[in-house]
Amino acid sequence: MTTHNSHSSKTFAPSPEFVAQANMQGATTAQTFYDTSLKQSESFWGELAKVLIFHKAPDKILDWQMPRATWFQGAQLNVSENCLDKHLPHNANKTALIWEAEPKAESGEAVTRSVSYQELHDITCQIANSLKEMGVTKGDRVLLYMPMVPETIASMQACARIGAIHTVVFAGFSAQAIADRLHDSEAKCIITADGTYRKGNFLNLKTIVDDALVKAGANSKVDNVLVYQRDAKQPCNMVEGRDINWSSVESQEKTCVPETLDSEHPLFILYTSGTTGKPKGLYHTQAGYLLWAHWTTRWLFDVKPNDVYWCSADCGWITGHTYITYGPLSNGITQVIYEGAPTHPNKDRFWEMIDRHNVNLFYTSPTAIRMFMGCGDALPAKHSLSSLRLLGTVGEPINPEAWNWFNKHIGHEKCPIVDTYWQTETGGVVISPMPGATATKPGSATHPLPGIELDVVDPETGKSLGKNEKGALIIKRPWPAMARGIWGDPVRFEKTYWNTSEAFKGVYLTGDMAMIDDDDYVWIEGRMDDVLNISGHRIGTAEVESALITHPGIFQAAAVGVPDEVKGQALVVFVEITEETRSKVETGNLSIDDIKSEARDTVGKEIGSFAKPREVRVAKALPKTRSGKIMRRLLRELANSGEIRGDTTTLEDFSVDSLSE
Ligand code: WT7
Repeated sequence: MTTHNSHSSKTFAPSPEFVAQANMQGATTAQTFYDTSLKQSESFWGELAKVLIFHKAPDKILDWQMPRATWFQGAQLNVSENCLDKHLPHNANKTALIWEAEPKAESGEAVTRSVSYQELHDITCQIANSLKEMGVTKGDRVLLYMPMVPETIASMQACARIGAIHTVVFAGFSAQAIADRLHDSEAKCIITADGTYRKGNFLNLKTIVDDALVKAGANSKVDNVLVYQRDAKQPCNMVEGRDINWSSVESQEKTCVPETLDSEHPLFILYTSGTTGKPKGLYHTQAGYLLWAHWTTRWLFDVKPNDVYWCSADCGWITGHTYITYGPLSNGITQVIYEGAPTHPNKDRFWEMIDRHNVNLFYTSPTAIRMFMGCGDALPAKHSLSSLRLLGTVGEPINPEAWNWFNKHIGHEKCPIVDTYWQTETGGVVISPMPGATATKPGSATHPLPGIELDVVDPETGKSLGKNEKGALIIKRPWPAMARGIWGDPVRFEKTYWNTSEAFKGVYLTGDMAMIDDDDYVWIEGRMDDVLNISGHRIGTAEVESALITHPGIFQAAAVGVPDEVKGQALVVFVEITEETRSKVETGNLSIDDIKSEARDTVGKEIGSFAKPREVRVAKALPKTRSGKIMRRLLRELANSGEIRGDTTTLEDFSVDSLSE
């Protein structure tokens, strides 16, 4: 293993003023807390779980039969009751959500809508009653394809309320991607909207859903599509007998008794990319997940009753589940949600919104930060940003330049920055500074959270590595918010995350490389598998490759990642075209550019526009070993540096780009 010493050791301690008001104060407190979490794990979690409203208290804290963890066995509860009803006695009129539309009024004023805890409860109950009326019951799956509006959060909460399992599909995914998820999840109902505004355009979501249902055909179990009306002025196709207008939600009762659910009843499924062509439907359950969402929101964002919090993620990703729909609501805080693009109509829209809504806690992605950095320092300088108390980042490693820019130009050097490391599988943050306790180092997610016992090991032998050595990041014991499985595929779950070989027995494999420095700071060094992280979104190269070969003219494809200044990584694909396509090119009936744009469109159609490759290169044949395996290492090198220096002696054929030149 290589030794790694290139990280800066400059540290940033929280200010005494910040520490004095923090929920978790000082390094010693945090360390004691952490030690207790490992030494007296069961009483630690048992004690913290007292914050939840249970219908029945747990009999047992943890039962661990690798890879199946049962947390809070015997407990019964309802997550939606813990996020909404809990606040009604004292805070019914408190604002839960401040929604802002992308389009502004003609006057130039922002269009906003404020939703109190009482109102969010009422909408949730109405949706829940609608779902029941459609015959959705406990355990049924409901697929959401929604814009960022309060009704999305209410729909998730409505599913939780009746024990239905939501699976939110990010509204950038294609009809084909929805169809695949309908097939895998066997969802009985879809909740969608006429559309949403994005960069000034109205994106019609309902037509994509209609198309998905055609594509799914007999694989669809969908009886009804419930349609939220985002903009009454926009046309929306409604299918008689199947599609249900939102007015039927509005006519429902505003109460719905929360279903009593077992602690391990699934709460939601969320699909994420892996190393095969088929996305994995990770599922999470009730008490353990909610507990983690609740406490990590409190510790990491240092939330206080009067704070305004803003997480700029979308509910279609895990961040939007844990740190919009569940964590902040269970803490009863006020949060901002925004419909549209961060740069529309002006590149300082986010900074303007922070001032306008007096945002105290702001959580975003390194990609967004790098993009804003590229827009210049003058834009944030036009705004006060003085309401901010804490900043957070998530989804990908943050480079020290972007960290320093965020610290200086947005945080004005007075806001701690929490670089939060986690995954769809971990359910919530697992490595992060405690803002009132941890001195940060730009680019490091710092230390594991309570309950997380981690190590960096040799990927082959499983042996623990020394300081500054790069290896596989593992978690050595179960934690409450861990994913419980892959929907319908327990074998894949075990194989992917729980290597059963002697050396790794019982440890969770994150799939990330990491190293721990002399001061015990954890540095995430990227993925070990063929999964890319583009703008904080996970995309499997195998998934892109299987998308590409659905094109009749492409019969072989290889996707590789290259560094990208803004997005972290970008996708470059190499495609091998059929004999027939090749002769079309040679006779001048088709251009290489046509193939390139068709390849990009195919990825857009099969997965979604956000997964379209930055570059497509066309080859007569891809470099292969004698046994026929595509030599990805060479292609990676070619994509990164434009040339190949490595050993090519095992190659049978090598003519990448022979057609492109
Ligand atoms: C992968 C998980 C967690 C919500 C968004 C992404 C990378 C995530 C960090 C970070 C370095 C990070 C890892 C991880 N990642 N956060 N703070 N520093 N890398 O969720 O799609 O499940 O992706 O994102 O590679 O495995 P996801």
